[in-house]
Amino acid sequence: MKETLKKIVPESMIAWIRGVQASVKLRRETIRQMKRFERNYAKRGSMRKEHLETRIIFFTHQIEKGLSHQDFRFGFGKGVLAEFAPLLVALSKVDAQYKSNGIFQSATCALHEYRARHERAGYDLDYMRRLFPDDLWEEIGQAQGHAGGVLTIKAADKAHNAELTFEQLSEARHSVREFSDEPVSAEDIEQAVAIAMRTPSVCNRQPTRVHIITNADMIAKLMPLQGGFRGYKMPPALILLTADNQAFMNQDERNEGYTDGGLFGMSLLLALEEQQLAACPLNTMLPMKRDDATRKLLNLPDSEFLVMYIAVGHFLPEVKTCMSKRFDPESIVTVHA
Ligand SMILES: Cc1cc2nc3c(=O)[nH]c(=O)nc-3n(C[C@H](O)[C@H](O)[C@H](O)COP(=O)(O)O)c2cc1C
Repeated sequence: MKETLKKIVPESMIAWIRGVQASVKLRRETIRQMKRFERNYAKRGSMRKEHLETRIIFFTHQIEKGLSHQDFRFGFGKGVLAEFAPLLVALSKVDAQYKSNGIFQSATCALHEYRARHERAGYDLDYMRRLFPDDLWEEIGQAQGHAGGVLTIKAADKAHNAELTFEQLSEARHSVREFSDEPVSAEDIEQAVAIAMRTPSVCNRQPTRVHIITNADMIAKLMPLQGGFRGYKMPPALILLTADNQAFMNQDERNEGYTDGGLFGMSLLLALEEQQLAACPLNTMLPMKRDDATRKLLNLPDSEFLVMYIAVGHFLPEVKTCMSKRFDPESIVTVHA
């Protein structure tokens, strides 16, 4: 019956019916995805432990960024601290084991470094002290360690990157946001892109597209639209990874470009590191207006969507960066035996 129908109904008609079915499915499933996201993301004001932890990691990162600036600004982050402190108080209430919680430890270590640096310089920290109850202030005072704060990266340590094992290269790579003034050519980046081409993708359809931007005026226009690189000098080069929707064949694949583009991004980051180029991935989850403005500046085809930027430059002799402590692997693994 099916075979007979297939012979009678022209392919164009089958394609049209399938298209209508796919449109309905696309809408329904996108709404379902939206609802799951709405139910679970870490909304401001939520007292769920996981939500508090997410927001604490975010603010720890803001403090680590401020601490790692070449041009350190005493008194930075007053607004961040005002939002950060109540989250730590809230975590101490919902997590009985908060003192051994790695996220709490990272936060207090970063705050310890903030406090110590200001105290050493004799800077008045009254604005910070007022935010924390006595027990937390005490915790911060004692939180010396390697769970949070800043790391120092040295250009000289990168000389043998091409000989490192994968484990060593992964361990040594850190996001670097301050670069030397030496220009980076498109050719330098193209060598790393050639290595990243081995990244797998769905059915080998290779949706990732790479836009290399070395024009300083263009970078200066794009970065404020990105929004997550404020307070830093412009990078000498910028890579924009996009995914081309033309590589996908049905609505089930609507998010595939983020997966494939993300994988490509990680390969590219490691390839850049191997070639002794400093880099920092930067998000492109932009509000509509900034997304549109970015597309217009780069004249991006309608079929492409933004996956991520990577800021690229040469290493400074020495630079600080965020510690960005990772979870213990056991805490993210669920074995379904
Ligand atoms: C998709 C993505 C988006 C990111 N966006 C930003 C950003 O907007 N600004 C920024 O300074 N860092 C950004 N980062 C860098 C992260 O802060 C950094 O990767 C994280 O703290 C881990 O540190 P590491 O890269 O040094 O290991 C981003 C990283 C990724 C993977």
